[in-house]
Amino acid sequence: MRHPLEAFGPVLMPDAAMEPILAKPVRAALLEWLEEIWAKAELEEVGLNARMRAIFTGPPGTGKTTLAHHLAARLGLPLLIVRPEKINCRYMNASAEAVGKLFDMVAAQPEPIFLFFDEFDSIAAKRMGSGVNETIEQDHNVTINALLAAMDRFEGFIVAATNLGSRVDEAVWRRFEIQIGIDLPGPHERQRIVERYIAPFVIPKAALAALAHSLETASPALIRSFCEHIKRQIVVGPKAGWPMDRNAVIERVIATVKPHPDIGLPRLWSLGLKDKAVPQFPWPLERDLAAYPVDEPVSAGGDVVPLRRGRSA
Ligand SMILES: Nc1ncnc2c1ncn2[C@@H]1O[C@H](COP(=O)(O)OP(=O)(O)O)[C@@H](O)[C@H]1O
Ligand SMILES: [Mg+2]
Repeated sequence: MRHPLEAFGPVLMPDAAMEPILAKPVRAALLEWLEEIWAKAELEEVGLNARMRAIFTGPPGTGKTTLAHHLAARLGLPLLIVRPEKINCRYMNASAEAVGKLFDMVAAQPEPIFLFFDEFDSIAAKRMGSGVNETIEQDHNVTINALLAAMDRFEGFIVAATNLGSRVDEAVWRRFEIQIGIDLPGPHERQRIVERYIAPFVIPKAALAALAHSLETASPALIRSFCEHIKRQIVVGPKAGWPMDRNAVIERVIATVKPHPDIGLPRLWSLGLKDKAVPQFPWPLERDLAAYPVDEPVSAGGDVVPLRRGRSA
């Protein structure tokens, strides 16, 4: 059944959420936030509010959307991913009206909703005043004012994500009580990301470290895509009669999985088969049946507290 809020973008339920692999300080900050939310009632007793709004900044494919879904799931709430094109309209005042309608509809739901603004810079770009196109500028200012007013009234959770924090209007930015930067993964995170997405296959430690080194500057999304293409080759290749030696497979994978041109080219792509990680890449990959399923449930992971459902309010 379609959720009525899907007029603004997809609504994701808690059950399908996955925990992104993040650097330790980011994980610690998020856990602190969750603890604060779970202590909402106790905080209110001493006259304090739990913070309800966060903005995530960082390059594409680093897990911002995944993280928003994960957080909503940890709170037992459905996540509405507001798509910017459902807000941005060409007609005068239409974007501001869409903002008002969105917040009114969310507030009118029988159940609380976790509100997530994706590509937030395209909704909440800085107000202008350069006079290049006065009508467009005025209309945008009206939208920003509507957003500020709606955010001030809204009592639920709001998370926004952007690749470009500097493009977000300052007054809007200040409405977010928590700002979290999600960077490209470091060597340790890259290893964990490979392990997750190459499962049920396993790569021994030394080869894993070499591969992670060659994947420097790769986003988690790219690493996921690389690993999944390897697995796809392993399954489909023999049926299709493709050459299945290590170099042939890796060459086919790096030919079709390309990093975004704005991000530095990881060594594996710039050096290709000459990369040191290639001869170290174990082949054929060994399969560990205990490593299945690939996706960890939302409560998994030694460093997180168990999932608690329902509102603590
Ligand atoms: N930190 C991460 N850990 C594990 N998987 C990730 C991570 N970041 C991204 N991914 C995977 O990459 C894909 C894109 O992630 P997404 O959350 O949409 O990134 P963003 O919103 O930052 O652009 C998803 O399939 C997700 O599973
Ligand atoms: Mg995203």
